[in-house]
Amino acid sequence: MNLILLGAPGAGKGTQAEAISEKLNIPTISTGNLLRAAVAEGSELGLKAKEYMDKGALVPDDLVVDLLKGRISQFDCQNGYILDGFPRTVTQAETLEKMGVVIDKVVSIEVPDEEIIRRLSGRRVCPGCGASYHTVYKPPVEDNRCDKCAAGLIIRDDDRPETILKRLTVFREQTEPLKEYYFGKGKLRIVIGQEAVEDTTKEMFKVLFD
Ligand code: AP5
Repeated sequence: MNLILLGAPGAGKGTQAEAISEKLNIPTISTGNLLRAAVAEGSELGLKAKEYMDKGALVPDDLVVDLLKGRISQFDCQNGYILDGFPRTVTQAETLEKMGVVIDKVVSIEVPDEEIIRRLSGRRVCPGCGASYHTVYKPPVEDNRCDKCAAGLIIRDDDRPETILKRLTVFREQTEPLKEYYFGKGKLRIVIGQEAVEDTTKEMFKVLFD
Protein backbone atom coordinates (compact mmCIF):
# COMPACT_ATOMS: atom_id res chain seq x y z
CA MET A 1 0.00 0.00 0.00
CA ASN A 2 1.29 3.47 -0.91
CA LEU A 3 -0.26 6.22 1.18
CA ILE A 4 -0.02 9.99 1.35
CA LEU A 5 -0.71 11.96 4.52
CA LEU A 6 -1.74 15.56 3.91
CA GLY A 7 -2.26 18.23 6.53
CA ALA A 8 -1.07 21.57 7.82
CA PRO A 9 2.25 21.73 9.65
CA GLY A 10 1.65 20.17 13.05
CA ALA A 11 -1.61 18.48 12.05
CA GLY A 12 -0.12 15.19 13.26
CA LYS A 13 1.10 13.61 10.02
CA GLY A 14 4.33 12.32 11.56
CA THR A 15 2.55 11.11 14.70
CA GLN A 16 -0.11 9.20 12.75
CA ALA A 17 2.40 7.90 10.22
CA GLU A 18 4.20 6.17 13.10
CA ALA A 19 1.01 4.29 14.07
CA ILE A 20 0.19 3.28 10.48
CA SER A 21 3.77 2.21 9.87
CA GLU A 22 3.65 -0.12 12.89
CA LYS A 23 0.32 -1.60 11.83
CA LEU A 24 1.22 -2.18 8.17
CA ASN A 25 4.92 -2.78 8.67
CA ILE A 26 5.85 -0.33 5.91
CA PRO A 27 8.25 2.63 6.31
CA THR A 28 7.34 6.28 6.57
CA ILE A 29 9.12 8.63 4.21
CA SER A 30 9.11 12.14 5.63
CA THR A 31 10.69 14.64 3.25
CA GLY A 32 11.02 16.99 6.23
CA ASN A 33 13.11 14.38 8.09
CA LEU A 34 15.19 13.63 4.96
CA LEU A 35 15.89 17.35 4.56
CA ARG A 36 16.74 17.80 8.26
CA ALA A 37 19.17 14.86 8.00
CA ALA A 38 20.83 16.52 4.97
CA VAL A 39 21.09 19.77 6.96
CA ALA A 40 22.65 17.92 9.92
CA GLU A 41 25.18 16.23 7.61
CA GLY A 42 26.12 19.64 6.24
CA SER A 43 25.81 18.42 2.64
CA GLU A 44 25.52 20.92 -0.22
CA LEU A 45 21.85 20.00 -0.63
CA GLY A 46 21.30 20.43 3.12
CA LEU A 47 22.91 23.88 3.14
CA LYS A 48 20.70 25.03 0.25
CA ALA A 49 17.56 23.52 1.82
CA LYS A 50 18.18 25.13 5.23
CA GLU A 51 17.79 28.64 3.78
CA TYR A 52 14.22 27.84 2.75
CA MET A 53 13.27 25.72 5.77
CA ASP A 54 14.34 28.36 8.29
CA LYS A 55 12.04 30.86 6.56
CA GLY A 56 9.12 28.43 6.52
CA ALA A 57 9.18 28.32 2.70
CA LEU A 58 9.11 25.23 0.49
CA VAL A 59 12.45 23.82 -0.63
CA PRO A 60 12.83 23.82 -4.47
CA ASP A 61 11.31 20.75 -6.15
CA ASP A 62 14.53 19.43 -7.72
CA LEU A 63 16.23 19.10 -4.32
CA VAL A 64 13.27 17.37 -2.65
CA VAL A 65 12.53 15.07 -5.60
CA ASP A 66 16.16 13.86 -5.70
CA LEU A 67 16.02 12.95 -2.01
CA LEU A 68 12.67 11.22 -2.43
CA LYS A 69 13.77 9.16 -5.43
CA GLY A 70 16.81 7.93 -3.53
CA ARG A 71 14.71 6.88 -0.54
CA ILE A 72 11.93 5.18 -2.52
CA SER A 73 14.44 3.04 -4.38
CA GLN A 74 15.63 1.42 -1.14
CA PHE A 75 14.83 -2.21 -0.40
CA ASP A 76 12.46 -1.59 2.53
CA CYS A 77 10.07 0.38 0.28
CA GLN A 78 9.20 -2.46 -2.04
CA ASN A 79 5.97 -3.42 -0.23
CA GLY A 80 4.77 0.16 0.07
CA TYR A 81 5.33 3.28 2.13
CA ILE A 82 3.69 6.25 3.77
CA LEU A 83 4.57 9.64 2.32
CA ASP A 84 4.57 12.35 5.01
CA GLY A 85 5.15 15.84 3.61
CA PHE A 86 5.31 14.87 -0.08
CA PRO A 87 3.76 15.96 -2.39
CA ARG A 88 3.32 19.52 -1.18
CA THR A 89 2.30 21.11 -4.47
CA VAL A 90 0.31 19.96 -7.48
CA THR A 91 3.55 19.99 -9.49
CA GLN A 92 5.11 17.55 -6.99
CA ALA A 93 2.02 15.30 -7.25
CA GLU A 94 2.39 15.27 -11.03
CA THR A 95 6.09 14.42 -10.67
CA LEU A 96 5.18 11.48 -8.44
CA GLU A 97 2.83 10.18 -11.14
CA LYS A 98 5.49 10.60 -13.80
CA MET A 99 7.82 8.53 -11.62
CA GLY A 100 5.27 5.70 -11.96
CA VAL A 101 4.24 5.73 -8.29
CA VAL A 102 0.67 4.49 -7.78
CA ILE A 103 -1.00 5.94 -4.70
CA ASP A 104 -3.78 3.95 -3.03
CA LYS A 105 -5.18 6.51 -0.60
CA VAL A 106 -4.56 10.10 0.45
CA VAL A 107 -5.64 11.06 3.95
CA SER A 108 -5.99 14.70 4.89
CA ILE A 109 -5.81 15.41 8.64
CA GLU A 110 -7.84 18.52 9.43
CA VAL A 111 -6.99 20.63 12.48
CA PRO A 112 -7.98 24.28 13.21
CA ASP A 113 -5.18 26.88 13.07
CA GLU A 114 -5.36 27.74 16.83
CA GLU A 115 -4.75 24.08 17.67
CA ILE A 116 -1.89 23.89 15.12
CA ILE A 117 -0.16 26.77 16.89
CA ARG A 118 -0.62 25.05 20.29
CA ARG A 119 0.79 21.80 18.93
CA LEU A 120 3.84 23.29 17.23
CA SER A 121 4.67 25.61 20.11
CA GLY A 122 4.76 22.65 22.52
CA ARG A 123 6.52 20.19 20.22
CA ARG A 124 9.90 18.86 21.33
CA VAL A 125 11.97 16.55 19.15
CA CYS A 126 14.84 14.19 19.74
CA PRO A 127 17.96 15.12 17.73
CA GLY A 128 19.22 11.55 18.19
CA CYS A 129 16.40 9.31 16.89
CA GLY A 130 13.87 11.85 15.59
CA ALA A 131 11.07 10.90 18.05
CA SER A 132 8.52 13.68 18.58
CA TYR A 133 6.90 14.75 21.87
CA HIS A 134 4.62 17.49 23.15
CA THR A 135 5.02 19.25 26.49
CA VAL A 136 1.32 18.73 27.31
CA TYR A 137 -0.20 16.19 24.87
CA LYS A 138 2.66 13.69 24.72
CA PRO A 139 5.26 14.43 27.38
CA PRO A 140 8.33 12.21 27.72
CA VAL A 141 8.57 10.09 30.87
CA GLU A 142 11.64 11.97 32.10
CA ASP A 143 11.50 15.75 31.71
CA ASN A 144 13.05 16.85 28.39
CA ARG A 145 14.69 13.43 27.69
CA CYS A 146 13.83 11.09 24.84
CA ASP A 147 12.04 7.91 26.03
CA LYS A 148 13.71 5.89 23.28
CA CYS A 149 17.36 7.00 23.33
CA ALA A 150 17.65 9.35 26.37
CA ALA A 151 19.02 12.28 24.32
CA GLY A 152 18.06 15.82 25.41
CA LEU A 153 15.00 17.11 23.51
CA ILE A 154 15.14 20.28 21.40
CA ILE A 155 12.76 22.75 19.73
CA ARG A 156 12.81 22.58 15.92
CA ASP A 157 14.22 25.75 14.30
CA ASP A 158 11.04 26.21 12.26
CA ASP A 159 8.74 25.91 15.30
CA ARG A 160 9.32 29.58 16.24
CA PRO A 161 6.09 31.64 16.30
CA GLU A 162 6.76 33.79 13.18
CA THR A 163 7.89 30.77 11.14
CA ILE A 164 4.82 28.76 12.18
CA LEU A 165 2.55 31.48 10.73
CA LYS A 166 4.53 31.57 7.49
CA ARG A 167 4.34 27.77 7.17
CA LEU A 168 0.57 27.90 7.65
CA THR A 169 0.23 30.48 4.85
CA VAL A 170 2.41 28.39 2.54
CA PHE A 171 0.25 25.35 3.37
CA ARG A 172 -3.03 27.15 2.55
CA GLU A 173 -1.69 28.59 -0.71
CA GLN A 174 0.45 25.80 -2.10
CA THR A 175 -0.46 22.49 -0.46
CA GLU A 176 -4.20 22.67 0.22
CA PRO A 177 -5.07 22.63 -3.55
CA LEU A 178 -3.85 19.01 -3.47
CA LYS A 179 -7.09 18.04 -1.70
CA GLU A 180 -9.09 18.95 -4.79
CA TYR A 181 -6.50 17.24 -7.00
CA TYR A 182 -6.80 13.90 -5.17
CA PHE A 183 -10.57 14.27 -4.62
CA GLY A 184 -10.87 14.41 -8.42
CA LYS A 185 -9.01 11.09 -8.60
CA GLY A 186 -11.30 9.48 -5.99
CA LYS A 187 -8.42 8.95 -3.54
CA LEU A 188 -9.04 11.59 -0.87
CA ARG A 189 -10.18 10.65 2.64
CA ILE A 190 -10.67 13.17 5.45
CA VAL A 191 -9.85 12.63 9.12
CA ILE A 192 -10.70 15.27 11.70
CA GLY A 193 -7.70 15.54 14.05
CA GLN A 194 -9.04 14.72 17.52
CA GLU A 195 -7.76 15.99 20.84
CA ALA A 196 -6.18 12.67 21.77
CA VAL A 197 -3.59 11.12 19.47
CA GLU A 198 -5.19 7.63 19.87
CA ASP A 199 -8.64 8.93 18.86
CA THR A 200 -7.22 10.34 15.62
CA THR A 201 -5.48 7.00 15.01
CA LYS A 202 -8.85 5.18 15.35
CA GLU A 203 -10.41 7.51 12.76
CA MET A 204 -7.38 7.05 10.55
CA PHE A 205 -7.65 3.24 10.65
CA LYS A 206 -11.39 3.48 9.84
CA VAL A 207 -10.82 5.44 6.62
CA LEU A 208 -7.89 3.24 5.63
CA PHE A 209 -9.21 -0.22 6.41
CA ASP A 210 -13.06 -0.21 6.70
P1 AP5 B 1 7.98 18.85 7.62
O1 AP5 B 1 8.97 18.29 8.54
O2 AP5 B 1 7.26 17.97 6.68
O3 AP5 B 1 7.00 19.73 8.48
P2 AP5 B 1 5.43 19.97 8.40
O4 AP5 B 1 4.67 19.45 7.24
O5 AP5 B 1 5.36 21.42 8.60
O6 AP5 B 1 4.90 19.05 9.42
P3 AP5 B 1 5.37 18.86 10.88
O7 AP5 B 1 6.48 17.87 10.96
O8 AP5 B 1 5.64 20.22 11.50
O9 AP5 B 1 4.07 18.36 11.58
P4 AP5 B 1 3.27 16.99 11.55
O10 AP5 B 1 2.00 17.18 10.78
O11 AP5 B 1 4.12 15.83 11.16
O12 AP5 B 1 2.86 16.93 13.05
P5 AP5 B 1 3.45 16.05 14.27
O13 AP5 B 1 2.99 14.65 14.12
O14 AP5 B 1 4.89 16.31 14.46
O15 AP5 B 1 8.67 20.00 6.70
C1 AP5 B 1 9.54 20.96 7.24
C2 AP5 B 1 10.04 21.85 6.13
O16 AP5 B 1 10.76 21.07 5.17
C3 AP5 B 1 8.97 22.58 5.31
O17 AP5 B 1 8.56 23.78 5.91
C4 AP5 B 1 9.72 22.79 3.98
O18 AP5 B 1 10.62 23.88 4.08
C5 AP5 B 1 10.53 21.53 3.85
N1 AP5 B 1 9.84 20.47 3.07
C6 AP5 B 1 9.44 19.25 3.53
N2 AP5 B 1 8.86 18.55 2.55
C7 AP5 B 1 8.90 19.34 1.45
C8 AP5 B 1 8.42 19.17 0.11
N3 AP5 B 1 7.79 18.05 -0.28
N4 AP5 B 1 8.63 20.19 -0.76
C9 AP5 B 1 9.26 21.32 -0.40
N5 AP5 B 1 9.72 21.54 0.84
C10 AP5 B 1 9.53 20.55 1.77
O19 AP5 B 1 2.62 16.71 15.46
C11 AP5 B 1 2.89 18.03 15.91
C12 AP5 B 1 2.82 18.09 17.44
O20 AP5 B 1 1.48 17.89 17.87
C13 AP5 B 1 3.66 17.01 18.15
O21 AP5 B 1 4.25 17.60 19.27
C14 AP5 B 1 2.65 15.94 18.55
O22 AP5 B 1 3.02 15.28 19.75
C15 AP5 B 1 1.40 16.76 18.74
N6 AP5 B 1 0.22 16.02 18.31
C16 AP5 B 1 0.07 15.26 17.27
N7 AP5 B 1 -1.19 14.74 17.20
C17 AP5 B 1 -1.84 15.23 18.24
C18 AP5 B 1 -3.15 15.09 18.72
N8 AP5 B 1 -4.07 14.34 18.14
N9 AP5 B 1 -3.46 15.75 19.81
C19 AP5 B 1 -2.56 16.52 20.39
N10 AP5 B 1 -1.28 16.69 19.99
C20 AP5 B 1 -0.93 16.06 18.93
